[in-house]
Amino acid sequence: MIHLSTRIVPAHETDIPQLLSLNNRYAESGLTLARTPEFAANHLSDYRVLRDAQGGILGCVALDEYSPSVVELISLAVDEDAHGLGYGRQLIQAAVDLATARGYKELFAVSYSDELFLSAGFERAPLDTYPEKISRYLKVDKTEIEVGQKHCFARKLTAP
Ligand SMILES: CC(C)(COP(=O)(O)OP(=O)(O)OC[C@H]1O[C@@H](n2cnc3c(N)ncnc32)[C@H](O)[C@@H]1OP(=O)(O)O)[C@@H](O)C(=O)NCCC(=O)NCCS
Repeated sequence: MIHLSTRIVPAHETDIPQLLSLNNRYAESGLTLARTPEFAANHLSDYRVLRDAQGGILGCVALDEYSPSVVELISLAVDEDAHGLGYGRQLIQAAVDLATARGYKELFAVSYSDELFLSAGFERAPLDTYPEKISRYLKVDKTEIEVGQKHCFARKLTAP
C-alpha cells in the first residue's frame, strides 16, 4: 500500500529534523554516520528524501562531494517499518541519477550492506582508492574506517 504513493524528491529545509532523526537513529550502531543540522542545511541540495502520501519521510540519501569527479553516497536510511520494500534500492538509484546528472564520474559508498550495493551495480573497491575519505573521516569519526566488516563500493558513472 505505502509503496504505491511514495516518491523520491529533493529535500526541503523543513525536512531537516525528520531526515536527521532517520539517519542518526542508525548512527549508534555504526550503520550511518551522525550528521548535524548544520551539515544537512549546508548540503540540502545534495539530499533526496522518500516521501509518503502524507508528506512524511520514509527514507533518505545524500551525496558528499570529494572532487569534481568523485562523490560519496552517504546517509542512506529507510524507516524500520518500511524495510524490505525496495526503497533502499530506489534511493541508491536516485543517488546514482543525481550524481550522473551532476557530471561525476564515480560514486562510492562505505557500507555493511554488501548485497544491496553489489546488486545495484557497485563493485568492491579498496578504501585506499579514496585517501581523502580516510583523512576526512579521521577528523570526524574514525570508527567509520575502523569497522572491520564495512566495505567500500564504487560505481563508475556515464553521462546520460
Ligand atoms: C540498508 C537499508 C537502507 C536498505 O533499505 P531497504 O529499503 O530495506 O532495502 P531494499 O528493500 O531496497 O532491499 C534491496 C535488496 O537488498 C537487500 N538488503 C537490504 N538491506 C540489506 C542488508 N543490510 N544486508 C543485506 N541485504 C540487504 C534486500 O534483501 C533486497 O534484496 P532483494 O531485492 O534480493 O530482496 C535499510 O536496511 C536501512 O535503513 N538500514 C539502516 C541504515 C543503513 O544500514 N544504511 C546503509 C548505509 S550505506
